[in-house]
Amino acid sequence: MTALWGMLTLLVSGATCVYQEKGRPGLRPGYGKALEERMSLMENNMDKINHSIQEVLNHVLPDRAASNTTTSTPTRDAGLLGSNIDGAQLWQQSQQLPELPYLPSSPLMERLPATLSTTAPLATDSRLPSIQVLQELVELFFAMIHPFAPLFCKQNFIANMFAPDRQVLLHGVVAVSFRFWKRQAPSAAERESFVRVSREEVLLKTIDVCSLVSTQALALLALDAIGQGPGPRTLNLMGMLVTAVHQLGLAKSRSSTTPETNTPLVRNEDPDDGMDSSNVQVEEKRRLFWTIYGLDRFSSVSHGQSGGIDTKTVKLSYPSSDLDWGQSTVPEWFQAGLQSKPAHAHCNAKIWHHNIDLLALLDRSNQLLIQPVNLSLPAHCQEWQSIFRRLDIAMSTWFENLPAEIRDRPTDFDPTWVMLHATFHLINIRMYTVAAFPSTTSPYLKPSSAARGRCRQAIRTVASLASSLQPHELDRLNPMFSFVVWVAARSLIILWTTGYETAYGSMPTDLEPLLNVLRQMATRWLCAQRYADLLQLILDTKNNPGGPTGLEIFNDTRRTSYGLQNLLGTLAVPPAPDAFSGSFDFLDMPLLDVSDFGTSRMGAFGAENDGDWL
Ligand SMILES: *[C@@H]1O[C@H](CO)[C@@H](O)[C@H](O)[C@H]1NC(C)=O
Ligand SMILES: *[C@@H]1O[C@H](CO)[C@@H](O)[C@H](O)[C@H]1NC(C)=O
Ligand SMILES: *[C@@H]1O[C@H](CO)[C@@H](O)[C@H](O)[C@H]1NC(C)=O
Ligand SMILES: *[C@@H]1O[C@H](CO)[C@@H](O)[C@H](O)[C@H]1NC(C)=O
Repeated sequence: MTALWGMLTLLVSGATCVYQEKGRPGLRPGYGKALEERMSLMENNMDKINHSIQEVLNHVLPDRAASNTTTSTPTRDAGLLGSNIDGAQLWQQSQQLPELPYLPSSPLMERLPATLSTTAPLATDSRLPSIQVLQELVELFFAMIHPFAPLFCKQNFIANMFAPDRQVLLHGVVAVSFRFWKRQAPSAAERESFVRVSREEVLLKTIDVCSLVSTQALALLALDAIGQGPGPRTLNLMGMLVTAVHQLGLAKSRSSTTPETNTPLVRNEDPDDGMDSSNVQVEEKRRLFWTIYGLDRFSSVSHGQSGGIDTKTVKLSYPSSDLDWGQSTVPEWFQAGLQSKPAHAHCNAKIWHHNIDLLALLDRSNQLLIQPVNLSLPAHCQEWQSIFRRLDIAMSTWFENLPAEIRDRPTDFDPTWVMLHATFHLINIRMYTVAAFPSTTSPYLKPSSAARGRCRQAIRTVASLASSLQPHELDRLNPMFSFVVWVAARSLIILWTTGYETAYGSMPTDLEPLLNVLRQMATRWLCAQRYADLLQLILDTKNNPGGPTGLEIFNDTRRTSYGLQNLLGTLAVPPAPDAFSGSFDFLDMPLLDVSDFGTSRMGAFGAENDGDWL
């Protein structure tokens, strides 16, 4: 203690004590307090260091943690070195002997490059939760998020989760999975702080790197942002992701059998695709691409912009099934505009294939809705209408051609099946809402009453799909499901406030189940809360003398939800505490550029009966 005190004194003054003639021994006033503060700081730090050491020891000492670490390395304990060595011992050994070759114990692991598998577990970064919490979070991630964003081979992920070069993935998992945490500890405040730190870490660690792992982490962060709602953060992350797709060449896989016929004369290095990567890595790349493709499509729709990935440039096969991971069957090639044929793939992979086809249709419909039209030119309007009709037919053909096992609801809950059907209805509702309630009309583009009826039908289907889902099933859905529900609810309110719902005055049928789903999903995803708040604003003020607050903004189909949030968000909700909570969005159609042209909406409704264009 005395020695420590002396040391501290030296630390503080930084010089030897020289007593001046008039100076007095002892501490100058104020010094004691400063020293006390530094001491307790040091004690705290020592405690933390002790804690970290204990954690590392727990992980590497076989007698302490044998039973617990083996659960995380299920593939390593069978039949190694003649004796029954458990995972913890193997980890310890590989730490001492990093050059120890990895001994495969399953055909899948065999394909992994040795360097990946022999990495020692790291003493995790103190900015991450404890190892035990991390392990539970990873399990939560695979249970709740991974089914709709199946980026990883789980076996591979778990076996290498503490490898230093994959730490950024743990940050991604923390950012996206803590919302499902049910235990008391870590506390809500601690969890929030872990999430905040991990969001920053992923950004910091992916700005200077572009690799498969960094892009996987970025995809998780983008999913997290999309779950908070549209806004600059989501747009920026999507921009980074799309750039990474180009840098890594994820949209194209070189095939030895079909050499490229057209060669650019100037280009970057080809990414060394498939050269020395395992089948698992090739499949992870493919899945990363198709996951980003889905994020990009939904993000572009909810922001009213065109997507960052041009479907025509995609030269890649569909993802392969979870059971196979590209080991034995070669998946079919994706071709824009062609519906995937019923293949030998496992059902779950097949749903994903059809979803990919549907996302291409989502993109086409979005392009149509955001494309500017000159309403004073009959030819422009006719062309727009004919593209609309072609797309409408393509949509119903797509649905009719679905194999029965994809069209009919499976007995077991399947989040990808729900999302596939929700996406189909989303496309219809967006298209029909614009056709039924164009924000500007002209003699050449009149509101369509047929579209109004079909819009109502699609809303009814979404409401019945939504109300058939149990709370624990809603927990397992992509946050974009809440966007679909919101689009349906907003269109329903437009129908209602324009007098096409008989129940005006109370609440239109089907609105309640849609709102319930949003409230339920809001416990996990902030975007659902914001959608619910906006709808509630209209409902709460529906009896106001001047009509519901902000209705003319709410029901203008040209408005982006981004704009809607900016204009109505403060009325609807107290400002969100989260600094990253961007803003809102919806139908988003800067469709009709010509502002002072055309008759008013209501005026045009009268003329509907003389022939519907749809
Ligand atoms: C470090 O922590 C362990 C258990 O948490 C405790 O038993 C030990 O006394 C601590 N050591 C010091 C120096 O604080
Ligand atoms: C393993 O973890 C559980 C809790 O997860 C704990 O109760 C148990 O004591 C641990 N066992 C060892 C050997 O550390
Ligand atoms: C739309 O077409 C009219 C008629 O040709 C033309 O006068 C007008 O400038 C066009 N508007 C825009 C925004 O291009
Ligand atoms: C939207 O709100 C305005 C103003 O409240 C109302 O006149 C109009 O009928 C509503 N519906 C549509 C589709 O514009």
